[in-house]
Amino acid sequence: MTTRPHDLTAPTLHRSQQDIPQTSDLSPQAIAARLRKGIPVRLDSSFRDGQTVLSSFKQTLQVPKSTAPFQKREQFELQFRTQTSWLWVALENGHIQLAGIDLGNLIETLYGTNVNGYLSFHDIREMAGAWKRIQQGIHFAVLGQKLHPFFGVYFPTRTEHLELFTTWLSQYKGPKRYAVDVGTGSGILSFLLLKNGFEQVLGTDMNPNALWSAQHDAQRLGYQGRFATKQTDLLNDIEPTSLIVFNPPWIPGRSHSSVDDALFFEQGLFTRFFDQATKKLLPNGRIVLIFSTILTLLRPDIPHPIETELSKGRFLLLNKMQRKVKPTNGKRTKEKVQIWELSLNE
Ligand SMILES: C[S@@+](CC[C@H](N)C(=O)[O-])C[C@H]1O[C@@H](n2cnc3c(N)ncnc32)[C@H](O)[C@@H]1O
Repeated sequence: MTTRPHDLTAPTLHRSQQDIPQTSDLSPQAIAARLRKGIPVRLDSSFRDGQTVLSSFKQTLQVPKSTAPFQKREQFELQFRTQTSWLWVALENGHIQLAGIDLGNLIETLYGTNVNGYLSFHDIREMAGAWKRIQQGIHFAVLGQKLHPFFGVYFPTRTEHLELFTTWLSQYKGPKRYAVDVGTGSGILSFLLLKNGFEQVLGTDMNPNALWSAQHDAQRLGYQGRFATKQTDLLNDIEPTSLIVFNPPWIPGRSHSSVDDALFFEQGLFTRFFDQATKKLLPNGRIVLIFSTILTLLRPDIPHPIETELSKGRFLLLNKMQRKVKPTNGKRTKEKVQIWELSLNE
């Protein structure tokens, strides 16, 4: 099935009958007061001014230190994001009323032609980033190719877990007829499977933008006949397979966007995945989970979802590989990325 643009997830297009005051007519204090009360302000100048408005607003808040507990930092980010989502930009006949920004044809792809209304500046910023990625692509050395993640699609910003997956793939001796990549995202694991000789790969995701994105890159890479997608919850409604690959969200938390869905798991996700996997894995089949010790480092209080499943005895752990993560922004970390290879306990 091909996902059509009207199925895509797009940020809310706001409508307002009233005139919305413009940032150029207001003092930074007046802007901050409105945002705090949840009253819209229209950014009428440039993209750069929008960034300045956000950083001046942040200075009026008590920002938790980077050493503060994870939940406190998460709560702050959510509050900041909610309040500043009232900074709006006008869209007139499909044209964004802001200087210094290029959204290409994203507005038309997401909303259709000649739309009017307001979009939050946050969403505009994300669209601008997405448009750059769509146009220029991101090169993944592990794949030897560029991918072009669409708006609202998670893409890897580190590669150690992909390198580890490639190492695992190079030693895989099982059948290569058909594999399922659960939560395919940008499609990167599917493309690694195809590159390594799998005949057919099905990528599932609940995010329609991810499927749209992966389909487009599959075409660019010449995999269109060997790669299919399905919008579904995990493994729901798929044919049994001898290989299930899943790079799940690694951190528990609430999701506020399709990209959050890639990073934060809600309660029950792993139980649902393993329940489904008992029915979708062929005899002698394998589940390969990409995971990280970040969960235990950040939330030692949370039961480990894979270990919890293994203790139930439905699956056996055949192999576990791990490797260190390089420092990010010069910061060293104890985190390790992992591969957990499981089979049914038959
Ligand atoms: C960490 S990302 C991994 C993306 C990609 N496989 C990769 O390795 O870069 C997790 C993916 O799972 C998807 N996802 C999360 N919950 C899901 C669910 N219940 N059903 C299907 N996909 C889900 C997200 O939308 C996201 O694309």
